[in-house]
Amino acid sequence: MNFIMGVLVLLSLIGITTISAQTVWLDELDLSAATQGYGVPMKNKSLDGNTITIAGKTFERGFSTHAVSSLLILLEGKASLFTARVGIDDEVAGHDPAAVFELYGDGKKLWSSDIMHLGDSARLCKVQLDGVQKLELVVADGGNGNYYDHADWADARFETTGATTFKTYNPIASEPYILTPLPSAEPRINSAKVFGVRPGSPFQYLVATTGDRPMTFSAKGLPKGLTIDPQSGMITGKLLNAGTYEVTLIAENAKGKAEKKLRIICGDRIALTPPMGWNSWNCFAGEVSADKVKRAADAMVKSGLINHGWTYINIDDFWENHRDSKDQSLRGKLRDEAGYIIPNSRFVDMKPLADYVHNLGLKIGLYSSPGPWTCGGCTGSYGYEKQDAESYAKWGFDYLKYDWCSYGNVINGLPDNDPYKVSSLSYSGGAALNTAIKPFKIMGEYLRQQPRDIVYSLCQYGMSDVWKWGDSVGGNSWRTTNDITDTWVSVKNIALAQDKSAAWARPGNWNDPDMLVLGTVGWGNPHKSKLKPDEQYLHISLWCLFSAPLLIGCDMEKLDDFTLNLLTNDEVIEVNQDPLGKQATCLQTIGEMRIFVKELEDGNRAVGFCNFGIDVTELQYSDFEKIGLNGKFTVRDLWRQQDISTIETNSDKLKLKVPAHGVILYKFISLK
Ligand code: GAL
Repeated sequence: MNFIMGVLVLLSLIGITTISAQTVWLDELDLSAATQGYGVPMKNKSLDGNTITIAGKTFERGFSTHAVSSLLILLEGKASLFTARVGIDDEVAGHDPAAVFELYGDGKKLWSSDIMHLGDSARLCKVQLDGVQKLELVVADGGNGNYYDHADWADARFETTGATTFKTYNPIASEPYILTPLPSAEPRINSAKVFGVRPGSPFQYLVATTGDRPMTFSAKGLPKGLTIDPQSGMITGKLLNAGTYEVTLIAENAKGKAEKKLRIICGDRIALTPPMGWNSWNCFAGEVSADKVKRAADAMVKSGLINHGWTYINIDDFWENHRDSKDQSLRGKLRDEAGYIIPNSRFVDMKPLADYVHNLGLKIGLYSSPGPWTCGGCTGSYGYEKQDAESYAKWGFDYLKYDWCSYGNVINGLPDNDPYKVSSLSYSGGAALNTAIKPFKIMGEYLRQQPRDIVYSLCQYGMSDVWKWGDSVGGNSWRTTNDITDTWVSVKNIALAQDKSAAWARPGNWNDPDMLVLGTVGWGNPHKSKLKPDEQYLHISLWCLFSAPLLIGCDMEKLDDFTLNLLTNDEVIEVNQDPLGKQATCLQTIGEMRIFVKELEDGNRAVGFCNFGIDVTELQYSDFEKIGLNGKFTVRDLWRQQDISTIETNSDKLKLKVPAHGVILYKFISLK
């Protein structure tokens, strides 16, 4: 019995108090409020349902979760001590997971385990909690890719002063609410204001326009070689010479007429604004098929998303044949005699699929790895980069995501049997710069030799500061961080890790914080995004401020009104597609609030007041000089598409009420 307990018992014996010390086990609480990367929270079992085991030691009790993860507990000052043994569960043997266990009390970090790997003995977490109202148990990503981060809080318990249980909770408003006004009946042209193409490449630009149909399209000043289809608004053809062309786009319907300037830059650079579209991974993962891809493309049109500038339909992993899957639809000859890749039986022929998508007015992308195997164990491009680049072009593809995975194999000289394992090794070993660059350079060069423009998206999770050299290998975008999941901790950690690469964002080069986790997602196991509505507003706002590629990751046939509202706000999208191509950075932190500021081509600024805390933040804001504002401005609420006030930065204050885990996104329009 410790001293405090002794005193309590003594006091109660002599009748002075009725308070008694108790133990409340974490596994006695409702753990379903936990949010985590994959799977469901487990009590007294590992994530896969085994006995909790850390470095050979077994535990009867505990909470097992999947990084990244968060569990909030309302202690109301009634707990004095938290103890647990934390570590990675042995059930993921054969892989190299890494995670960090953290404890936050009322928003302050109380304890961190530092990075833990598989095989590390359980670390003791013993933290005094006196006075803590809200406790958060976090498991953050330890930087090795997060597929196998099975994390255990073993023997976790509280010493309390009288309480017999605690409530777990999720404090963020959970009712979806719609802010985006419906598009008006008059035409509004929403496609990007600038478009890059290389001389001689097929040209495809859709004048994406909302408003009543029928609508007719025309364009003034189109250079020789390009024509516009008056019914669809599609501009096609070829430009033979480099140059910059100023064009006026016109869309007309019974209700009115819209005009917009488009700058066509024919030269070396493409993807002059961040690519917008859909990718199959977050939704279908290994279950993707040509049929599902076609249906996603149909839904892009039917939902009206195409009219807001959404363009790419990207097939991720699993269009290739697999190394050893039991699923026969993934088995077959990997390559023909000349080394050209053979798609699996779910796809058969890629050319008609690409034609189908193009005929809808969209573009199409696909996926490979520089290693012998993709991350999912399908055929990679190693040794066949030339043939693969030729196939993509011959089939008519417009975009390639090139994912490191088993390339770690090649540099570590390991048997190529596990793409996940080798990718982890390359993390911990840290690929030398030349080695990190080489495979992307090879494919980059072959892509450039093709007779069509193929957007090149590097995926290697930010190793070797890819943002510093991605452009030199022909990359148009590069992942900066590990895989996203539909959890608050994942989105928050990824968002807060973007500033370091911000200076490298520019037209044609985009930092990629990974795909959107809105709508029905699930990596083959569909469910509604676990992000709360406020978190989803924050997610989209930040990705727009970051000039990030916007790739919808959800089931396009299950788009609900709330998700559509997030994806169709043209003023928010305009921030993302701004031709200046700057990435917002955090210019001020006030408590849990970060203020991200993005400079725009018109000289104005988009500002996201982002609340990463668990309480609503209310304040009278007046630090305008810190966010680069000086003078008189109209303040426009971009989500509501309304001017809300005029401010004079020297004298006025701006009243802000930012929801927990939420955002206010304003554009400050100079009134010089
Ligand atoms: C991961 C990548 C994911 C997805 C997956 C396919 O490495 O980050 O976005 O492409 O591989 O196996």
